[in-house]
Amino acid sequence: MRISVIGCGYLGAVHAASMAKLGHEVVAVDVDPVKIERLAAGDAPFFEPGLPEILAEAIASGRIRFTTDYAEVAGSRVHFLAVGTPQGPTGAADMTYIDSAIASLTPHVAAGEFVVGKSTVPVGTAARLAAGLQDAVPGATLVWNPEFLREGFAVQDTISPDRLVYGVPSGPAGSSAVEALDEVYATTLAEGTPRLVVNLPTAELVKVSANAFLATKISFINAMAEIAEVAGADVTALADAIGHDDRIGRKFLNAGLGFGGGCLPKDIRAFQARATELGVGESLDFLADVDAINLRRRAHVVTLASELLGGAVAGKRVAVLGLAFKPNSDDVRDSPALDIAARLLELGATVSAYDPEANHTAARIHPSLSYVDSASAALQDADLVLVLTEWNEFRTLDPAAVVAQVASPVVIDGRNCLDRDAWTAAGFTYRGMGR
Ligand code: UGA
Repeated sequence: MRISVIGCGYLGAVHAASMAKLGHEVVAVDVDPVKIERLAAGDAPFFEPGLPEILAEAIASGRIRFTTDYAEVAGSRVHFLAVGTPQGPTGAADMTYIDSAIASLTPHVAAGEFVVGKSTVPVGTAARLAAGLQDAVPGATLVWNPEFLREGFAVQDTISPDRLVYGVPSGPAGSSAVEALDEVYATTLAEGTPRLVVNLPTAELVKVSANAFLATKISFINAMAEIAEVAGADVTALADAIGHDDRIGRKFLNAGLGFGGGCLPKDIRAFQARATELGVGESLDFLADVDAINLRRRAHVVTLASELLGGAVAGKRVAVLGLAFKPNSDDVRDSPALDIAARLLELGATVSAYDPEANHTAARIHPSLSYVDSASAALQDADLVLVLTEWNEFRTLDPAAVVAQVASPVVIDGRNCLDRDAWTAAGFTYRGMGR
């Protein structure tokens, strides 16, 4: 099928390449000429395992084209809308990119075609956009097909998601939309992927409520970590024990520095703002606590660092291992790790930071941190070691070798990812999160 993808950020670039991988003919549009040039040359603008390979394959097969010219989308049967909805100044989602993308796209859409929203939007957006599209192009249909991809697994999550959700209008237009999307996802559906057909607001809500649930689960275990810390319990053992209950499940129960990234933090804030607009703000009051618990983890680590350094951070050498908001990513948007590194710098520490992939993205936001190109360089003569992103490279560090490099054997395991016994046996003072 001829498909267009509007927006070539994280979501759009992965979606466009994945659609080509599924055999479709894709034209991908972005207003940023630099991004388009890089993608057209097969150069992925961010670190995402598997993306360079499918991008190269798509380009070689001639099934993908990158352009800044909206006119080139003409003739596509399905137009995916995949632009960003970042956090605005009030916490509500900033809809500028959605609104300008739809305004640029609409003149090139014809009757019988489908505009398919993939971006995360406040509930009610699809109905608003559908009305505008209906006025401008009678016979074109707007549907919502939220995306659930995780960074680091984005390609796999796009091609083989754990479910497909189609938000469609009622009546014949809705049935035609389901047919068109079934054709887009024929390969995925043939694998047995569950597909749920719902109305537009349900599709929008599925996305934000899934992220709100995940954020709540993480903050729940971090609240237990706060209690475990004062009660002398071990939150990791607690998570293992409650996680054996199928109704609870062990996934997303890792206590640590909490959630960051370009999705969970801004989505729970935008969701609260939207609920308030709808007059049901109370229903999501608990998300303010979810957010507060999450942000407390960062403050807690800074306090702990100060305690372990004898009360004063200024002038101390601190090794920060990890800057990305999670491993297998170079994304530092709202990253707890980068936030903690910056706070320690502000308190006067000499911070030597290393991330296997995120040094360059972090340096754009915090150029004054000192970035080094290996864990070993960061660890040299450190008074305190902080492991803030659970990259495999850090999990597998040999504490016996590290102890010989540092000035003082003290480690904060911000992601509970180190072997506590091995680090303690090597002579380290070990502090985990909620253990
Ligand atoms: C999240 C959702 O998981 C995806 O399903 C969703 O599609 C995506 O947002 C989105 O809205 O686009 P992502 O931001 O890639 O995906 O990251 P997650 O894997 O959810 O991790 C988020 C944060 O939670 C990370 O900082 C991670 O370190 C933290 N986390 C995760 C924990 O602190 N504990 C855990 O047990 C799990």
